[in-house]
Amino acid sequence: PDRYAVIGNPVDHSRSPAIHAMFAEQTGQRMTYTRLPAAEDAFTATVERFFADGGRGLNVTLPFKQAAAAYAATLSARAERAGAVNTLIRCDDGRIHGDNTDGVGLLRDLTGRLSTPIEGRRVLVLGAGGAVRGVVPVLLEQGPKHLYIANRTAERAEAIAADFTDLGPVDAGGLAGIGGGWDLVINAISAGLAGRMPDLPAAAIAGATAAYDMIYADAPTPFLRWAERHGVARRCDGFGMLVEQAAESFHLWRGVRPDTRAVIAALHPAPQ
Ligand code: ATR
Repeated sequence: PDRYAVIGNPVDHSRSPAIHAMFAEQTGQRMTYTRLPAAEDAFTATVERFFADGGRGLNVTLPFKQAAAAYAATLSARAERAGAVNTLIRCDDGRIHGDNTDGVGLLRDLTGRLSTPIEGRRVLVLGAGGAVRGVVPVLLEQGPKHLYIANRTAERAEAIAADFTDLGPVDAGGLAGIGGGWDLVINAISAGLAGRMPDLPAAAIAGATAAYDMIYADAPTPFLRWAERHGVARRCDGFGMLVEQAAESFHLWRGVRPDTRAVIAALHPAPQ
């Protein structure tokens, strides 16, 4: 069978092997998908060995997405724009091609499970890490009315906005200055993992119709509980984004599309 893996550090808790195993079973693909740990300074050596041994494709997770973009011989337009790669493909001529399915994965979950279009909407993004840099260009391509990136360190948010102003109406600032009137609020602040949200003005969430947390957990996340307390009716966590980006990678590798809803329901039954 053809061999695939996810490379990262740490990678032992990655859900990707379970997701791709379900995709392969659903679609009848003969393949294996394993975890590939790599020391921080051994990304290139580990990837080269994997492909030299006949591996067909890799997913790339933290902290290697930028290194993967530098490593790939060719890049898709969206990977080049994000400066980050989450999918490596060994082409028939042996060349390694890099792509990035994170943004489109988020978009599919927003328009699918969350039933929330971006076009014409006012969208607030909380956080300015690598994940935000990857999804902002994809969100802007959908034609939002306004996209605002708010971050504890305002300069990081401003730097991302400045890189993408040619794609649409985007600006940025600190957490304290967030105004109100957002249709959709997307969280990418990782502090929520530790159990609580940073103090944010209620105006940031009040009146929103939908809330999306790019982070996921077995129970509703602090951000989604905060959104619920402020009456936001539609809420989803980032497990769907994980499955959707995996499905896009699977399609690039195998040419077939799995049923993502069935996989989300089977692997992440926690209601939000
Ligand atoms: P990723 O690449 O996964 O997006 P990251 O680059 O570590 O992760 O970014 C984490 C995000 O969470 C950043 O926006 C960070 O804010 P800063 O840029 O100011 O560091 C945000 N974050 C982490 N802990 C936070 C906290 N206690 N309060 C507010 N924001 C926090």
